Amino acid sequence: MTDTSVPESSDPDGSTPSTNLGFGVDVGGSGIKGGIVDLDSGELVGERFKVLTPQPATPDAVADGVAEVVAHFDWTGPVGITLPGVVTDGIMRTAANIDKAWIGTDVYELFSKHLDGRQVSVLNDADAAGMAEDAYGAGKDVAGVVMLLTFGTGIGSAILIDGTLVPNTELGHLQVGKKEAEHQASSRVREEKGWSYEKWTEKVSEVLETYEALFWPKLFIAGGGISRKSDKWIPLLTNKTPVVPAVLLNTAGIVGAAMAVSRGLKT
Ligand code: BGC
Repeated sequence: MTDTSVPESSDPDGSTPSTNLGFGVDVGGSGIKGGIVDLDSGELVGERFKVLTPQPATPDAVADGVAEVVAHFDWTGPVGITLPGVVTDGIMRTAANIDKAWIGTDVYELFSKHLDGRQVSVLNDADAAGMAEDAYGAGKDVAGVVMLLTFGTGIGSAILIDGTLVPNTELGHLQVGKKEAEHQASSRVREEKGWSYEKWTEKVSEVLETYEALFWPKLFIAGGGISRKSDKWIPLLTNKTPVVPAVLLNTAGIVGAAMAVSRGLKT
């Protein structure tokens, strides 16, 4: 049997440590980050650990990186893993911002091979972040439809209704005006074009207006690195639905991945 408990000494404030632990790994374009997650609180137990994403980020190279992160913690239990693409029936279907070799990869076979055949769950990165924010973060007390959007290299999306995820929504690829949403309103586009927040939020507002006209969410949660500077741009948005910054920031993907495997989620 897997021992997923942590020693009492690892609990700095002296309160009773949780034994409801999980493990998540968030695979991004620049880093593969993971950690032990307290599933009662949605917090990390100790620090996260990161290795650089290998280049080219082929399936075997990335899976080696994931195994390195897991081994760093001597974690022997189940592992949840996020990927920046669509995963259905255990197969990665798209790879907009990662090596194209992922398309058609059987991700359960791949990670099982690199992680000694243990139980894994593999899901989209934004879906994992959305699950975590909905359960423990900015969407915690919100009833009804909540949408999380991550603004980074691309735009990731997650739609949840009262805690239940509709996986693989991929709204970053929705055509808004002449282009896909992520080709005009990701934070990568802002950096590449050298746009001010004012200029960029015009694009983001247009994208959010399109989403709200189709899905009518109660709340948008803005994630991704740029949400750390949310006070500079969220007030500039002109769409109708309230937009709040993500709370879990760089742990949301890890926490959501751990939640997914603890629930046996397969998308
Ligand atoms: C991908 C999504 C991913 C998002 C954020 C998009 O380009 O298609 O699957 O969630 O980027 O990484």
